[in-house]
Amino acid sequence: MAVRTVLRMGHPLLLQVAAPVERFGTAELRQLVADMDDTMRVLNGAGIAAPQIGVSLRAVIFEVTPRIRRPARPGGRPRAGRRRGDGLEGCLSVPGLRGIVARHTKLRYRGFDLDGRPIDRTVTGFHARVVQHEADHLDGILYPMRVADLRSFGFEDELFPDRSALPPD
Ligand code: NI
Repeated sequence: MAVRTVLRMGHPLLLQVAAPVERFGTAELRQLVADMDDTMRVLNGAGIAAPQIGVSLRAVIFEVTPRIRRPARPGGRPRAGRRRGDGLEGCLSVPGLRGIVARHTKLRYRGFDLDGRPIDRTVTGFHARVVQHEADHLDGILYPMRVADLRSFGFEDELFPDRSALPPD
């Protein structure tokens, strides 16, 4: 297991469409996911996709257990015009920045676990958002490409000078 270097926006690998996982249950796949997990945890991310550590494979992990953080305080920041589905995002490949992205609030997703067992879930809210964010990585899409109003996109310490008000990424 190892903490790996996270590629940052601008690296061409982040713009590639990643290749499907062909073999499950292998030592290589376990090692990859263990490294992704170590890297995500040390950087306090909610999720990570294999391309972010330089492996162009369709593998993602994320953690959607409820986290105790206060919601962002309204007022003083660009919140006008927010609609259902709008939410703040961040990304380990875009460190220090945040932006509002519109996502589907409910979705069904399918995939496979490490051993190739099927996963089929219908999810809402933050779980649905994280799935869309991570799945986008596999298609070479970074969340800033989906920020509709760039006035909501900026450095988190400028957007949220009171860091206790920082919402989850
Ligand atoms: Ni990301």
